[in-house]
Amino acid sequence: MSFRIRKAIPEDAQGITDVVSEVARERIHSAITDGWPTKKQREFILGQTAREAVFVAIGDDGQVIGCQFLDLYSAILPSMSHVAAIGTFVRPQFRGSGLGKQLWRATKAYAVVNGYTKAAIQVRGSNIAAQGYYKSLGFQECGRMKGQVIIDGAPDDEVLLEMFF
Ligand SMILES: CC(C)(COP(=O)(O)OP(=O)(O)OC[C@H]1O[C@@H](n2cnc3c(N)ncnc32)[C@H](O)[C@@H]1OP(=O)(O)O)[C@@H](O)C(=O)NCCC(=O)NCCS
Repeated sequence: MSFRIRKAIPEDAQGITDVVSEVARERIHSAITDGWPTKKQREFILGQTAREAVFVAIGDDGQVIGCQFLDLYSAILPSMSHVAAIGTFVRPQFRGSGLGKQLWRATKAYAVVNGYTKAAIQVRGSNIAAQGYYKSLGFQECGRMKGQVIIDGAPDDEVLLEMFF
């Protein structure tokens, strides 16, 4: 499998929506239960600040096969402007092939250049695979919110992980 990583452009909105929606439909990985409509995803990309980005992995056929979001942890608190919030989504058939690791390489480089000194992430307590992924990148667990999400009637915790650059 080959892929290339680049910063998303508004024209990637459909591909990003497809990937996030597919992960949301799986129900077991993310607190997100529905992907955004393409129009909203496009507006989101256009509305990102100069310090925010989505990185996309483009497969051989030119389609988005994975993406990683880098957003300000808080859009309103200057005291947290050094903290990036991260979210990662890879299509099922492309997992475990190093794509997530390569997305992080691009995202982290962008974060450092744009003045972030820390990243933070919330992962569902049952999502052991994603916790393993983030820990492999150097994130450390720093807390847990119990029963923070309820999906299809089932409560799940949210595990907090952080990394200082
Ligand atoms: C979690 C996810 C982003 C990881 O991406 P990926 O492309 O599968 O990960 P990679 O192949 O780059 O693996 C990178 C490292 O993560 C770790 N890792 C990956 N999958 C893992 C798993 N199932 N269990 C434990 N560790 C795992 C490994 O240490 C791996 O390093 P190695 O190859 O040197 O052993 C991807 O599987 C995914 O999108 N899952 C569904 C959505 C999701 O859970 N998103 C996170 C919620 S925010």
